Amino acid sequence: MSDTRDLLHRTADLAADFLDSLDDRPVFPRATPDELRARIDVPLSDDPLDPALVVEELAAASDPGLVAMPSGRYFGFVIGGGLPAALAADWLTSAWDQNAGLYVGGPSASIVEDVARGWLCELLALPADASIGFVTGTQMAHVTGLAAARFEMLRRAGWDVGRDGLGGAPRLRVLVGAQRHVTVDRALRLLGLGSPTIVAADAQGALVPEALRDALAAADAPTIVCAQVGEVNTGAIDPLPEVADAASSAGAWLHVDGAFGLWAAASPQLRELLRGVERADSWTTDAHKWLNVPYDSGLVFCAHPEAHRAAMAITASYLIQEDGAQAVRDQMDWGPEFSRRARGFAVYAALRSLGRSGVAELVERCCACARQFADGLAEVDGAELLNDVVLNQVLFRFETDERTDAVLQRVQADGAVWMSGTSWDGRRAIRVSVSNWQTGEDEVRLALDTFASAAAHEAAHAPAR
Ligand SMILES: Cc1ncc(COP(=O)(O)O)c(C=O)c1O
Repeated sequence: MSDTRDLLHRTADLAADFLDSLDDRPVFPRATPDELRARIDVPLSDDPLDPALVVEELAAASDPGLVAMPSGRYFGFVIGGGLPAALAADWLTSAWDQNAGLYVGGPSASIVEDVARGWLCELLALPADASIGFVTGTQMAHVTGLAAARFEMLRRAGWDVGRDGLGGAPRLRVLVGAQRHVTVDRALRLLGLGSPTIVAADAQGALVPEALRDALAAADAPTIVCAQVGEVNTGAIDPLPEVADAASSAGAWLHVDGAFGLWAAASPQLRELLRGVERADSWTTDAHKWLNVPYDSGLVFCAHPEAHRAAMAITASYLIQEDGAQAVRDQMDWGPEFSRRARGFAVYAALRSLGRSGVAELVERCCACARQFADGLAEVDGAELLNDVVLNQVLFRFETDERTDAVLQRVQADGAVWMSGTSWDGRRAIRVSVSNWQTGEDEVRLALDTFASAAAHEAAHAPAR
């Protein structure tokens, strides 16, 4: 065992070395795929190798291809870092190596999920008795929440989808905003529900309530409405009170994609933006985004635990399952996986280490940083802000698509900060997401300075664009 202890100590040093390097390393690595392959593609040995050697070599070979994703200078996609307590709990999760499918696969792993469920429902302003599933990310959270919706809406129409499948079932209608996230479509595809009906969104990407009411009135069928809090480019939040009114008068199931935006409910300053969110039937969010839990960690909540469980639960004669779901939790009853990682430990640790005020401060600081960046764009030659900065997302572009792409490429190559591009309204754009627990005014200032000099360089060297 002492060899393993030595290995883990050495590994802790390697991990800490990486974290220490985050202040200095280029955010996106400069190594080419060929260079990385040359380091990583070693012959598989016939004989076992010393674990310490394997880990040392893995760390050394991988280092030039690591993105400084946990850094406060990373503004790409919607990506959180790893809070220290969550990272450490995640290490313990690997060491404990519980199979979090059943209570008997690890009683503490099950109880920790139950406890975190209560904290999360309170923080996110969801019904206190909502059920929860710990999944890989919002993608699988959609699959789970929409499976519960499919089960329940067909049950209300007199159809048992678990027993009889979809062949011959009443047609289930799914209405989504034009700017819903693509993971909703994939979840629907996996569930055999086909392509959704698109409802108009406004210029910020929020669903237009009149269009939703018209779409609901167009047919009398079992219906799921998918709303969104936090559009991936703009952060736009659907008008929840009106969406919830429309969905409930039509007897529809309301599913909310809150991959990052749901965390606004944890802030007293921002909570009002999410008024009405508690009226939905299912919700999805990520812990690996704004809560800054290491990958992977998504969450699904359901206001109808019996439908959630009916859609997911399985039994087999060899499984030791607990009857009476309220007493102890068999996690496989609440998600699509059978065996799985005990994801609850890291979520629990993140929530405890931040506390209520810490979660609120993290969310509010990220939003303040997004506003700082948006305001600072006034100093960046040619930059045009495209969104109302309601949360942590900033969307902007330059005069032409070519210039937008060129400035972004220059910023990405510089290495000081990193953010991703997108298309918005038929044109190229740049999106900045502030989601990391370590991002503050200095990192935003650095991002603005990097854009200012990249834009100035482009203006000076590519005037023809
Ligand atoms: C609004 C929204 N929904 C869903 C997702 C997908 O989340 P995940 O990558 O955790 O599956 C994202 C990712 O950015 C998102 O922003």
